[in-house]
Amino acid sequence: MGLLEGKIAIVTGGAKGMGETHARKLADEGAKVVIGDVDVENGEKLAESIGDNASFIELDVTNSTSWDQLVKKTKETFGSIDILVNNAGLAGGMPGLLEIEEDLYKKIIDINQLGVFNGMRAVLPTMIENNKGSIINISSLAGLRHDTTVNPAYTASKFAVRGLTKQAAYEFADKNIRINAVLPGAVLTPMAEATLTKEQIDEVSQTLLPMKRFANPEEVSELIAFLASDKASYISGGDFVVDGARATINK
Ligand SMILES: NC(=O)c1ccc[n+]([C@@H]2O[C@H](COP(=O)([O-])OP(=O)(O)OC[C@H]3O[C@@H](n4cnc5c(N)ncnc54)[C@H](O)[C@@H]3O)[C@@H](O)[C@H]2O)c1
Repeated sequence: MGLLEGKIAIVTGGAKGMGETHARKLADEGAKVVIGDVDVENGEKLAESIGDNASFIELDVTNSTSWDQLVKKTKETFGSIDILVNNAGLAGGMPGLLEIEEDLYKKIIDINQLGVFNGMRAVLPTMIENNKGSIINISSLAGLRHDTTVNPAYTASKFAVRGLTKQAAYEFADKNIRINAVLPGAVLTPMAEATLTKEQIDEVSQTLLPMKRFANPEEVSELIAFLASDKASYISGGDFVVDGARATINK
């Protein structure tokens, strides 16, 4: 029997990258999974390839009406909501503080920070009613300290995700709802490939990463499945770093 048998999960930004592997892993562990993403084509393809235990619903995490529709359709399709993985994100390249356009700054905050806030607000009423739930908010190693491979909006948004997580974890602890933050280091996904060239990925691997390689997205999905499961019943409000020891050095 899988870790998540009988549970219903939503994964945002689930059409590709880490969201895709999280959706596959949760389904492998027995959950029914709703993939929410603005990328309809890849999202539908993924749901189809997972099969009956997955469904794609178009979602823009920055829009609370879009969230309300997703929650309604999830409940119509699968009955309830037990797990939310707030994974959708935008990196936005590496402009410095003086170079980043205000519009890009706001867009990154909207997706990475407001998206997480919207997601928690959309699913919490159902979880409160059920007196159970697990929410996993994807922050980043850049939510812990400066990171040479991102921009200030990204770092600010990922620090904010940790703050939101702690605030909410405390507020809903007595409702048996656990809320944790996961902080991946460098993971090889379309986001990493859009930010760095192949040469830069090799250079970062050799100079910044103690394991001399990026993580595979599946290596993060293992932790997501555990935190989503009842095995993690007393784990809430935490920051979980998956970075191959990168945070041990100040690079
Ligand atoms: N790749 C890394 O090295 C790394 C490291 C640390 C943290 N993260 C975080 O992990 C998460 C996943 O990253 P990834 O590398 O898989 O990214 P990715 O770019 O490969 O995938 C992100 C997904 O989010 C979706 N998305 C973007 N805007 C959206 C919106 N408004 N509404 C709904 N969906 C939207 C995209 O369509 C895409 O499918 C992000 O939150 C990211 O910040 C990534």
